[in-house]
Amino acid sequence: MVESKQQVDLRVISNQVGARPTPRSEGSTSPDIQLRPWVVVPEPSEADIEELKKQRIACGWHSERIPMWKEEIQSGTRYVWFIHTRTPTGLTETAGMISLYLYDPSDLSVADMRAPPPQAGGRVEIGALFIYPEYRRQGIAEAAFRELEQKAAEVGATTITVNTMAPSETVRRYERIGYQQYKKEKKYKLQDVLGLGLTEEYCYAAFLEKKIA
Ligand SMILES: CC(C)(COP(=O)(O)OP(=O)(O)OC[C@H]1O[C@@H](n2cnc3c(N)ncnc32)[C@H](O)[C@@H]1OP(=O)(O)O)[C@@H](O)C(=O)NCCC(=O)NCCS
Repeated sequence: MVESKQQVDLRVISNQVGARPTPRSEGSTSPDIQLRPWVVVPEPSEADIEELKKQRIACGWHSERIPMWKEEIQSGTRYVWFIHTRTPTGLTETAGMISLYLYDPSDLSVADMRAPPPQAGGRVEIGALFIYPEYRRQGIAEAAFRELEQKAAEVGATTITVNTMAPSETVRRYERIGYQQYKKEKKYKLQDVLGLGLTEEYCYAAFLEKKIA
């Protein structure tokens, strides 16, 4: 089977992240992480599916999306990575997850890189970020973001977007690492938001972007 350029690009980004750890800069105080791609071809392992479910249940959010993520990966519009940290003896258990989305047909301002021409552009979204409580506040999320920004640039993305519940501390965290809000709109279903124990104002999401070219 002949691979399209898109398939090759996506295989390259996946292999690079999984197989070639990013070297640490001398004197770096950020955590030493490794991103392991969620491999779904020919089929994902049961262990990986269970791990994803565990994380989505832990964050109370979107475990129903796992089959859709699998299809998006297979069609070349999404990547999902498990986040590990490296120790002198190997990798830790999974510390969390992160995803790169290359085409959001419902909102091209979020991700348009794999949109059909002439809509295709350079926007990709970092999302589905989750870190287990015991691994938090060590800079792991920020380190994973930096790695994904680098990988996105390598495949030609020019802008990274993120979105998060608007009344959240997370907005300020993203601003601190160079993201700027470009819109705010209603995104989450009231039922889901109430189910998470939050109030109606959390239905709104802030959309932020960062130029990386
Ligand atoms: C939001 C989230 C991803 C952050 O992950 P994290 O790995 O703890 O993030 P970081 O460590 O990079 O940064 C978190 C904070 O720790 C601080 N920090 C980083 N390294 C630190 C260190 N060595 N010592 C102390 N603090 C540190 C950061 O400055 C940051 O501070 P802030 O809260 O004032 O912004 C994580 O808390 C999470 O998964 N939360 C749940 C997400 C969720 O449920 N989302 C809903 C949809 S799934």
